[in-house]
Amino acid sequence: MRKFVKGLSFFAMALLLIFTAACKGNDGTAESADGASKETYQFKLAHITPPDHMWHKAAEKFAEELDKRSDGRMQLEIYPSSQLGTEADMVEQISAGSVDFGFITAAYMSSRSPSFAAWFTPYAFKDLHEANEARDSEIAKKILGTLDEQGMVGLDYFFAGQRVMLFKDKKVEKPEDMKGLKLRVTPSPPMQDFYTSTGASTEGLPLPEVYSAVQTGVIDGMDMDLDATITNKYFEVVNYGAVTNHMVWPAVAIVNKKTFEGMPEADQKIIREAIAAAAEFSAMTRADQEEEFKKTLKDEGMDIYEIDPSLFDPYKQKFDEKYGKQDPLIQEFIDAFRD
Ligand code: BEZ
Repeated sequence: MRKFVKGLSFFAMALLLIFTAACKGNDGTAESADGASKETYQFKLAHITPPDHMWHKAAEKFAEELDKRSDGRMQLEIYPSSQLGTEADMVEQISAGSVDFGFITAAYMSSRSPSFAAWFTPYAFKDLHEANEARDSEIAKKILGTLDEQGMVGLDYFFAGQRVMLFKDKKVEKPEDMKGLKLRVTPSPPMQDFYTSTGASTEGLPLPEVYSAVQTGVIDGMDMDLDATITNKYFEVVNYGAVTNHMVWPAVAIVNKKTFEGMPEADQKIIREAIAAAAEFSAMTRADQEEEFKKTLKDEGMDIYEIDPSLFDPYKQKFDEKYGKQDPLIQEFIDAFRD
């Protein structure tokens, strides 16, 4: 009898092993009987903006979506405000795997992979709705694909409004009025070239130094987005805001390649869908805030106005000629989105 029980439990154990093996994913990760992953994850995400900026709200939305879509198996800790260092530091941490995700400016990413500069094609999109549609285009995906060889997967783009021009003392009403002004422009060659082609000079100051630089007169104005104009209180130190919406300003959502590709496909799908939902939320919420933000800045005493985009046609052409030649993906982007 004891022999029979022993034989039976051996048989039960063998059955259990066969069953467990049959329920494992391609990479050996345990899955439940219905094929769903049982893995749990504690991810980290880093970005540079303060908690009241849209990119942080989008990161929170991503955390919520991950939690909901994975039934709580995927949790996300967010490190805003450059807590983990500069964007260069964050990208190093992500490619090394100590941080999983980052929302990194396309401006910085273009220093790692030049085709990201395509997003700075001046006046490529009428508004954020059009830019948001471009997220799904073949060319946008090809640009993300250039990160593959750098140990990262490019997942999507997050828009925080378009770029506008802020001036301390001079109301600039046409590109020629910028001649001789010293303007803070993110240290990204295509953005800086756009300004220098008008006769302005550029200073590539990091964001935390911009407020005091304009306050003390070191610079005469800046290239910015409306969201950051409010969250960083630039309205206290500039008088004029030209809502040119001349370029979009995406953050690129990236993830460590080994971490991502080591997950069961069902979990990769959850991540892709959660990030797409957060990106959609970011662009659409931001698009809806355009009028409210302009009003907030007017209420703060700024002169908020528009400049006829056709006045910038010669400068658009200069960009297209220079950057289209530099990278075939940039040319493809210009061909896809230039009217
Ligand atoms: C900037 O460098 O201009 C910037 C960076 C992140 C969010 C908004 C603006």
